[in-house]
Amino acid sequence: MQLILIGFMGSGKTTIARKVAHYFKSQWVDLDRYIIEEQQMSINDIFALKGQSAFREMEFNALQQLIKQDGVIATGGGIVDNAQTRYLLQQSGIPVFYLNGTYEAHWRRVSRNDRRPLVNALGHDGLRELYYERRPKYFHMADYTIYFQHKTPNMMLAEIEKQL
Ligand code: S3P
Repeated sequence: MQLILIGFMGSGKTTIARKVAHYFKSQWVDLDRYIIEEQQMSINDIFALKGQSAFREMEFNALQQLIKQDGVIATGGGIVDNAQTRYLLQQSGIPVFYLNGTYEAHWRRVSRNDRRPLVNALGHDGLRELYYERRPKYFHMADYTIYFQHKTPNMMLAEIEKQL
């Protein structure tokens, strides 16, 4: 099976990817982790040393490889900011699920740690702007939207399964 999860930082893409893949006895991959291994560098270091646009290029290249194989892909929140990547996913024909919640629900989850360069750089209000800027792009790209608030991963899995 093939499936792509998109959504803003803190929407639970990695957790749900693992869950869905386990249920369907399929493989799963987290794009950030894939890039970290490939580059042997943290996301913070990639942003600091190579810059955000280089990272967007890495995401595109990684996705181009990963969509060729079976499995669930958890993307990074910024893939919708790259037109080339948006096009790649839209052309792939793989079902895209948008994990969505309010800004504050995302903020509560991402402000707990400092592994995301944009959270550190933008802070609460700057990140909120980015959230509202990206929201229409997620909706536009998604075949299905799943709200994560007040739901357990199992409930989200059941919703996803119902759509497939
Ligand atoms: C980013 C999201 C992160 C990671 C990087 C940039 C973004 O992934 O790719 O920090 O621009 O939204 P998650 O959405 O998995 O946190």
